[in-house]
Amino acid sequence: MAAQRGESEPMKRMFVTVAAILLGIGAVYAQQDIVNQRQTAMKENGKNLGGVLAPMAKGEKPYDQAAVDAALTKLADNAKALGSEFPENTKGLKSGDKYSASPKIWENRADFDSHIASFVKAINEAKASVKNLDALKAAVPALGKQCSSCHETYRLKEG
Ligand code: HEC
Repeated sequence: MAAQRGESEPMKRMFVTVAAILLGIGAVYAQQDIVNQRQTAMKENGKNLGGVLAPMAKGEKPYDQAAVDAALTKLADNAKALGSEFPENTKGLKSGDKYSASPKIWENRADFDSHIASFVKAINEAKASVKNLDALKAAVPALGKQCSSCHETYRLKEG
C-alpha cells in the first residue's frame, strides 16, 4: 500500500501540473478573445461613425433615418459592452493591430469607466435627438469628441 501511494503521488502531481498548464492556456485564449472582441467592436465604431454618420452629416451620402438609427443602436450596444471588455487580466495583451490598450486603463479605472459612461450618454442623446440632418450635423462632432478624448489617454499607437 505504502509503495503504491509512493508511486501515485508523482502521477497525481503530474496530472495537477498538466491540468494547471491546460487551464492556463485556456485562460490566455479567453483573454485574447476579449481583446479581439473589443478590437472588432472598435472597428465597427469606426465604420458606424466614420462610414455611415459622418458622410451623411457632410452631405456625401443622402440622409437616411433607418441607417442613422441602425448605426446609433450598434454604437450603443458596443459602448455598453465596453465595461466588461477590459478585464484586468488583459493588461499588456495586444491584438497585433495598429493600436493597443494603455495600462493606464487599469491604473485609473474609475476615470476610464467615466469615459465609457459619458460615451453611452452621448449616444443616447443622439438617439433621442437625431431625427433630421441638422441634428445629425450637431451629433457627429459630439460623438467624435467622445472617441478622441478616450483614445488620447487610453489608446496606444503601436510601432
Ligand atoms: C472609453 C474609451 C473609448 C471610447 C469611448 C472609444 N474608444 Fe476606440 N479604443 C479604445 C481603446 C482602449 C482602444 C484600443 C483597444 C485594444 O487594442 O485593445 C481603441 C481602439 C480603437 C480603434 C482601433 C482598432 C484597430 O483596428 O486597432 C478604432 C478604429 C476605434 N477605437 C474607434 C473608436 C470610435 C470611432 C469611437 C467612438 C465612436 C471609439 N473608438 C470610442 C477606447 C475607446
